[in-house]
Amino acid sequence: MKFFIDTASISEIREAASMGILDGVTTNPSLVAKEGKEFRALLKEICEIVNGDISAEVVSITADEMIKEGKDLASIHKNIVVKIPLIKEGLKAVKTLKAEGVRSNVTLCFSPNQALMAAKAGAYIISPFIGRLDDISHSGMDLIQQIVTIYKNYDFDTQVLVASVRHPMHVVEAAMIGADICTMPFKVIDQLIRHPLTDIGLEKFLSDWKKGQQSKK
Ligand code: E4P
Repeated sequence: MKFFIDTASISEIREAASMGILDGVTTNPSLVAKEGKEFRALLKEICEIVNGDISAEVVSITADEMIKEGKDLASIHKNIVVKIPLIKEGLKAVKTLKAEGVRSNVTLCFSPNQALMAAKAGAYIISPFIGRLDDISHSGMDLIQQIVTIYKNYDFDTQVLVASVRHPMHVVEAAMIGADICTMPFKVIDQLIRHPLTDIGLEKFLSDWKKGQQSKK
């Protein structure tokens, strides 16, 4: 499973990239707005740090405008994947962009039928938002299972990107199901590494080592 970071923060991206586990970055308009930087310059900076798919979202809502905006974003760097909202106009844009060689990540997916539509339109990536479904008492992970099964049944090559991840168990379950990509906030990436027995074990190894060195003196 590929690991993406869900942020537009350069410091978080640098830190995650330095761990050697980062395959890509997802951004969205809310995350970009939080950074207060010029969008194109920010994307260029991200592309210099991570050599993988970097999702950049359009803010238009008509197909023609999304296509124009998408082409412009894709021209920034070869690794940019254009994020398109899962609405009717969005599907039209995905189809045209694909025909012109621009890859799209179809975002704000909340149902298996939406995912099926996106794959048929030619999405490179589908982004089902599991945390936001859990928030309204629906199982986000059931949606991932449904999409993975449907795509497998019909040999779609659209990649399933698990989005709106809130905690480490989401990552375990996504990996068990066989999702292609999981995008996580920095906090979750950090939580994945930690285990109290690792900390206790390391502390004991180091203190035993110290005692051993002292007894040799
Ligand atoms: C995905 O690409 C989105 O940016 C993201 O995962 C949304 O997560 P949220 O529900 O925590 O805002």
